Amino acid sequence: MPVSPPVSPPVSPAALRNREPILNILRTVLPDTGTLLETNSGVGTHAVHFATALPALTWRPSDISPQARERLSMLPGGNILDPLDLDVAQPVWPITSADAMVSINMVHIAPWAACEGLFAGARRILPDGGVLYLYGPFIIDGRPTAPGNIAFDADLRGRNPEWGVRNLDAVDAVAAQAGMIRTDLIDMPANNFSLVYRKQAPSA
Ligand SMILES: C[S@@+](CC[C@H](N)C(=O)[O-])C[C@H]1O[C@@H](n2cnc3c(N)ncnc32)[C@H](O)[C@@H]1O
Repeated sequence: MPVSPPVSPPVSPAALRNREPILNILRTVLPDTGTLLETNSGVGTHAVHFATALPALTWRPSDISPQARERLSMLPGGNILDPLDLDVAQPVWPITSADAMVSINMVHIAPWAACEGLFAGARRILPDGGVLYLYGPFIIDGRPTAPGNIAFDADLRGRNPEWGVRNLDAVDAVAAQAGMIRTDLIDMPANNFSLVYRKQAPSA
């Protein structure tokens, strides 16, 4: 009987380019051990790379899209768990705790409610001091926006009026409302940024 060759999971070309610079940041901000929730994992290119490079972490991928989750379920296992059906905009998530969170390239390509829900969820499931890492393009007041990001913003809004490259101040404000404070802003290749938020302990 013929034996089928193993199926390689699909990869995202953009994720192949940005995964190493992102990993370099994650190494400095993530806990050494514990469970990490990756929201909006897409096809899982980052999940495979990061979970391999950070073997003491348990990586929980997730996505709103059934097609994405089908691809995520093809990932190799080991310290990568089965994908969750997670719409970050929802008030109840199918996971109640995680030691850290990562969200790469979503808040500009989803309605604003997804950004609000992401921080509200981080507030619910992270420990005090827990990190939520965001990556993507952002508009930063007082800094010139790269022409590529201006064009990208127009393209996104043309595709869906609820999408668009977000203003960092607006993201920080949503974060602060949820008790999450930004502790880092790092320039990344191709006019992207790493944003690191930490959950504040409730004031006494
Ligand atoms: C541009 S892709 C990024 C995928 C991956 N993180 C990467 O960088 O290659 C955006 C992803 O966000 C997911 N997404 C959009 N809205 C979402 C929501 N409300 N909750 C969770 N995932 C969402 C999409 O299904 C898609 O997989």
